[in-house]
Amino acid sequence: MNLAEARRALAEAESAALGAIGAAADVAALDAAEREWLGKRSPAVVVTEVIKGLAPAERPQAGQAVGAYRARVGDAVAARRAELADRSPGSGAGIDLTLGGHGRRRGHLHLVTQIRRELEDIFVGLGYRVAEGPEVEDDWHNFEALNIPPAHPARSMQDTIYVALGADGPDELGGGAGAEHMMLRTHTSPVQIRTMETQAPPIYVVAPGRTYRNETLDARHSPAFHQMECLAVDRGLTMADLFGTIEAFARRLFDDDSVRTRFRSDFFPYTEPSAELAVSCVFCRGSGCRVCSHTGWIELGGCGMVDPNVFRAVGIDPEEWQGFAFGFGLERIAMIRYGINEIRTFFDNDLRFLEQY
Ligand code: FA5
Repeated sequence: MNLAEARRALAEAESAALGAIGAAADVAALDAAEREWLGKRSPAVVVTEVIKGLAPAERPQAGQAVGAYRARVGDAVAARRAELADRSPGSGAGIDLTLGGHGRRRGHLHLVTQIRRELEDIFVGLGYRVAEGPEVEDDWHNFEALNIPPAHPARSMQDTIYVALGADGPDELGGGAGAEHMMLRTHTSPVQIRTMETQAPPIYVVAPGRTYRNETLDARHSPAFHQMECLAVDRGLTMADLFGTIEAFARRLFDDDSVRTRFRSDFFPYTEPSAELAVSCVFCRGSGCRVCSHTGWIELGGCGMVDPNVFRAVGIDPEEWQGFAFGFGLERIAMIRYGINEIRTFFDNDLRFLEQY
């Protein structure tokens, strides 16, 4: 046998070996094929014997041909062995009922979003429209038009983060010529102004959204929280309309027709008269419990009749039109509804908490 004959013999043996290995239906058949094509009597051994009789220059090439044959046939055996193993019961690639599921779980809306949508539905049912405003606000809308001039003491109760844009700032954020400082809005009341600037009365809107204040985090106060504002402007509106609207919404919200409302004198520069708005505790029905700090009442927010100066700031005649407004915290409502006593659980993003609602 010369080198050419040795190569031909190996090529023929390889194609026969690959055929037999591929056809092996089980491990026993594969073992037999491996013995035949790589074992002691395999073509590789026969050719190795022949190499000694070849010319010295041809021996390395013959040796490489034997090595290549062993490598390819050996790889084919290993691959087939893996295939057969995969198919055997309990191997892991078949159906193994002892393994857990890997499906994706369906998520749901955040608790605050759920409350916001529920409130929107209640007010839309009462004939209101939903309005929105920017979270980065200018001084006019957040303070001045709301009858809070610079240096007014009410500003110190609502400190926030100011954004210095300078004249180069983007126009939509109030930059450009004569830019004034911008701020993260401290309440949703600026949406009252934006609505009245662009829409003629009668107006019935609610404005939900995120608000910010420079406040230390405690169990019920966070530097970022959500509010919902309500504004009604029409002819002949009185405080009776304000009280009736709040009572109707509170009864729908807490799904309890025995809920009572309480208004205590308060001060907001943009309403006159102003009141603090509270509802009877839905847990103890007013007799006093832990949720209402044993007072029987839960404070929701502030309210009042729109101050004539606010109407003048937006060009609405206060002799012709009257209005009422109120604003309350969405986290506060969720906390009351579900007896949650720690506001930071809303934004810790711990799914074990959020999943419960
Ligand atoms: C206001 O923000 C007024 N703009 C409400 C208003 C609107 C009055 C229209 C009159 C007319 P106040 O600062 O009280 O009011 O906030 C209202 C509610 O927002 C609070 O009762 C509380 O529920 C919520 N709130 C205020 N600060 C925080 C805070 N740091 N964290 C969480 N909730 C807060």
